[in-house]
Amino acid sequence: MTSVLGLDRVTVGYGEGTVLSDVSLDIAPGSALCLLGRNGVGKTTLVKTVVGLLRPRHGQVLFEGVEVTAKPPNQRARMGIGYVPQGRLVFPQLTVRENLLVGLEALAGGKAGALSEVLDLFPVLGEMSGRVAGMLSGGQQQQLAIGRALVARPKLLILDEPTEGIQPSIVIEIRAVLRKIREETGVSMLLAEQFLDFASGLADHYCVLDGGIVAMNSSAAELDRPAVLDLLAV
Ligand SMILES: Nc1ncnc2c1ncn2[C@@H]1O[C@H](COP(=O)(O)OP(=O)(O)O)[C@@H](O)[C@H]1O
Ligand SMILES: [Mg+2]
Repeated sequence: MTSVLGLDRVTVGYGEGTVLSDVSLDIAPGSALCLLGRNGVGKTTLVKTVVGLLRPRHGQVLFEGVEVTAKPPNQRARMGIGYVPQGRLVFPQLTVRENLLVGLEALAGGKAGALSEVLDLFPVLGEMSGRVAGMLSGGQQQQLAIGRALVARPKLLILDEPTEGIQPSIVIEIRAVLRKIREETGVSMLLAEQFLDFASGLADHYCVLDGGIVAMNSSAAELDRPAVLDLLAV
């Protein structure tokens, strides 16, 4: 079966500097991969390479078997890559509803049905629909950022540290919603995360980045938790 996402020996960095060397990974359709690693190891760098915000120095990025290495982010979005950036970048001046409509517009022939699905997943977005997004709490903004990606009905949903700076009770809520999204939509997922606790039970596969390479690649069933925690310890 063709992977939804494939990275083939990707080397990427900034200027002369290299952050990741020869990184390869695959996500099978419908499955979820968690990308773990300490702060600064290159999770966001990898995510940006997948989304098209960074161009690798070597290697290929494939989406559903199609090479997208040279394609711009908007084209990848239209192909079905949904992106929730680190720091939940919502449009603070727009209302919740307007933010969601931006996500809908991003998809050619966007389906309004997707909007009500998202409101079912995140009831708080319906309650706050007329509120300006900048006034929402961090957890609500994160739900909005995820909802905005989902209204475009992506095939691959990419989340970059969705729990960063969010209070524990909301983290639990977001975790529950991600599980629900997987169960109900069958979307594939790439989750960049610093903490194994949050990611446990959410992914089918775990990759740990360390020293610019994939230091560990394991199925959820065979995951050596102590070894992962070792790699994540500062
Ligand atoms: N725009 C940039 N220019 C130069 N270096 C960067 C830039 N963004 C990130 N880096 C560096 O690349 C490395 C990986 O960063 P990043 O991918 O953000 O890590 P993570 O998401 O795992 O915390 C870090 O050393 C960081 O300082
Ligand atoms: Mg990051």
